[in-house]
Amino acid sequence: MFLEEASQQEKLAKAWYFKPCEIRELSNHEFFMPGLVDTHIHAPQYSFAGSNVDLPLLDWLTMYTFPTELKFQNIDFAEEVYTRVVRRTLKNGTTTACYFGTIHTDSSLLLAEITDKFGQRAFVGKVCMDMNTSVPEYKETTEESIKETERFVSRMLQKNYSRVKPIMTPRFSLSCSETLLGKLGNMAKTHNLHIQSHISENVNEVEAVKNLFPDYKNYTDVYDRNNLLTNKTVMAHGCYLSTEELQVFKERGAAISHCPNSNLSLSSGFLNVLEVLKHDVKIGLGTDVAGGYSASMLDAIRRAVMVSNILLINKINEKSLTLKEVFRLATLGGSQALGLDKEIGNFEVGKEFDALLINPKASDSPIDLFSGDLVGDTSEAVIQKFLYLGRWIYVSVLNKIFPCLLLGYGSLYVWPHRLNSMCDHFI
Ligand code: GUN
Ligand code: ZN
Repeated sequence: MFLEEASQQEKLAKAWYFKPCEIRELSNHEFFMPGLVDTHIHAPQYSFAGSNVDLPLLDWLTMYTFPTELKFQNIDFAEEVYTRVVRRTLKNGTTTACYFGTIHTDSSLLLAEITDKFGQRAFVGKVCMDMNTSVPEYKETTEESIKETERFVSRMLQKNYSRVKPIMTPRFSLSCSETLLGKLGNMAKTHNLHIQSHISENVNEVEAVKNLFPDYKNYTDVYDRNNLLTNKTVMAHGCYLSTEELQVFKERGAAISHCPNSNLSLSSGFLNVLEVLKHDVKIGLGTDVAGGYSASMLDAIRRAVMVSNILLINKINEKSLTLKEVFRLATLGGSQALGLDKEIGNFEVGKEFDALLINPKASDSPIDLFSGDLVGDTSEAVIQKFLYLGRWIYVSVLNKIFPCLLLGYGSLYVWPHRLNSMCDHFI
C-alpha cells in the first residue's frame, strides 16, 4: 500500500487506471484497521466449535477431537467444513490464519486450495502423529507421516500459491515419536519451512512429556534438540514455560500463540503475556478453535484482556495489558509470530493492504455511538467500542489482488469494482 495526496486524484487516476467513480470517501465514523491475524486455529475442529468444551485437554482430545478429525478422510466432508471455516473467519476479520489440518494429506491440500480461492492469507499444515492417539484408526506410522508430509510440502510448493504456504505440523510431543520429531525437524531445515505445534498447555500434558522424554531438560528442549524451535516456529499456549525455556525461545527467535479462550474453556491455565514480552519473545493471538469455542479474533482480544486482568487481581502482575497492547498482539504481533511482518500487520507504506473497513453504524450494528464519540476524526472511543462490542466485520478488504490507494489519510480510497463481488462472496 502507499499513501498519496487527495488533491492529486486526477494524476493518480491516470497513473493507476482507476475512474473517479471508484473513489469512495469514508464517513467520519468509519475507519480502516489492519486485518486480524489468527496464529493458531484447527480447521477441522470448526465442525464442533461451540460444543464439547467440558473436559480437560487430554480427555478432550480422546473423546471429541481425534474421532472428529478422523472424519476428514472423507474429502466431501472436508470440503464442507473447510469452506465454512474460511468463510467464517474472513467474516470475522481474520485476513491471515495459521491452520492445522488433519493427518490426511488430500484434505489438507484442499484446505489450502479453498483458503487461496477465498483470498485469505494462510499457513496450512498436514498434522503429523505416530503415537498415543487413543483412537487407533487416527494414527500414522512414522514412515507414512514422513512420506505424506513430503508429498504435502512438495504439492504445496508446486502450487506456489501467492498467499498460502505449507507449515510443518507435528501435533505435539505426546503424539510424536522422537524419530518422527527428528525427521520433521530435518525436513523443515532442508526446505526452510515454518513450523507449528503445541507446548506447555496443561499440567498433566507437561507431566506426561516429562515421563515420555526423560533424557530432555524440559518440554522446550524436546522441540529444540529436534530442530523444531527456529525463528519460523510458532508454538501454541506456553502457559507453563519456565524462565529458562522462555530464554531459549528468545535465543531461537521462536514465537508463542496466546489462545485465551481455549485456555479458559478447557481449564488449561493462564499465559502471563507480560512475562513473555519481558523476555522479548514474539507473541500473537490465536482462537485455537475448537478448544477455543469462538472462531472470532475479536473474542480472542477480549479474552486476552480479561486473562491479564485476572493476573492483576491475583497480584501475579502489577499491571494489566491495555486494549491497545492486545490489539497489537492481534495484528502486528501475529504477523511477527508468523514471520510476515515485512508484508502485513500494520499500514506501513510498502506493506500489503490487508485491511478491514469498519462501519460502526452499519445496519443492526451492536454499537451505539453518541455525540462525544464522533468529534473530528474517528476517536479512540469508537475503536475501543468496536473491539469490545463489534460483531462482524462490515467489509474485509484483502489486497495484492487489487491495487489499493489511500488518498489523503484514510479519508478517501479507491474501491475497485471487482472487490464488491469478492466481498459478496463471503459476507
Ligand atoms: N494439543 C495437541 N493437540 C491439540 C489440539 O487439537 N488442541 C489443543 N488445544 N491442544 C492440543
Ligand atoms: Zn491447538
